[in-house]
Amino acid sequence: MSELSVRELWAQTADVVGTRHEARWLCEVAVGATGDEFILVLDEPVTERMVAHLDAMLARLRTGEPLQYVLGRWGFRRLDLLIDRRVLIPRPETELVAGVAIELAAARPTTRTVADLGTGSGAIGLALADELPLEGTTVWITDVSEAALAVARANLAGIGRAATNVRVGVGSWFEALPADQHFDVIVSNPPYVAEGSPELDDSVAAWEPAEALLAGVDGLDDICELVAGASERLRPGGWLVLEIGADQGDVVRRLFDDHDFVDVEIRHDLAGRDRVALGRRPGEPQPSHP
Ligand SMILES: C[S@@+](CC[C@H](N)C(=O)[O-])C[C@H]1O[C@@H](n2cnc3c(N)ncnc32)[C@H](O)[C@@H]1O
Repeated sequence: MSELSVRELWAQTADVVGTRHEARWLCEVAVGATGDEFILVLDEPVTERMVAHLDAMLARLRTGEPLQYVLGRWGFRRLDLLIDRRVLIPRPETELVAGVAIELAAARPTTRTVADLGTGSGAIGLALADELPLEGTTVWITDVSEAALAVARANLAGIGRAATNVRVGVGSWFEALPADQHFDVIVSNPPYVAEGSPELDDSVAAWEPAEALLAGVDGLDDICELVAGASERLRPGGWLVLEIGADQGDVVRRLFDDHDFVDVEIRHDLAGRDRVALGRRPGEPQPSHP
């Protein structure tokens, strides 16, 4: 047993990583206590095992591995998601995309059936399940990557009662969904980075799964497939909501228009960049059945 307290370990770690909040996240994982529990153990002595765990995490950080993978978890809206290199690290801007989908699905009066295509860690779809009413909600989460779906299933187990509303499908985009199922909202954060793009951060390219990021020479391959296929999977009046790249607003708006979507909008993130594309299949919503 070491004489060092958790408080001292936190201070030493902050000296190494440069910020107290990152140091706290690392210490919380090493000590195995989060939030109020962490505060309660601040004056307890740390064990050799905790120090070894922290040292191993610091060694991984020194190789350039992103903090989120080292921690093995990351917050997304109200959820604390398990994260590893099989999935993209959920981004703050994707919380906006999930928020739009939640708002549109919540506007359906009695029941709502939604799909999150390319769910990765489960971030968007599980946030929908978590924040929409327990009664009358069905959420499909899908991915072409079995490895990603293993992470999403682990996260599904952590969302409590809402998990009973979630269905998991494997396959490429709409092929992962039952052929006869139609949706009130289809949401996706698909790969949308152009291959060879200089915009791609070195750390992202080195550590995050390429198949979650890259989508052909102009980054539009998957967006085109989703817009082209969505209408026949949406109920009349149903919405398609897509995360898009900062410079894709104009072209994606035209794509939605060309496929007869109405009420098409491009919304911006907090930095004012194009971030969310949404459009509605024409027609009036019918009373829906889950
Ligand atoms: C940008 S990541 C988004 C992950 C997660 N939805 C999020 O927002 O953090 C794109 C996801 O789409 C999946 N994907 C790529 N091609 C796909 C396809 N053809 N069909 C279904 N999913 C696909 C990837 O495996 C990855 O999980």
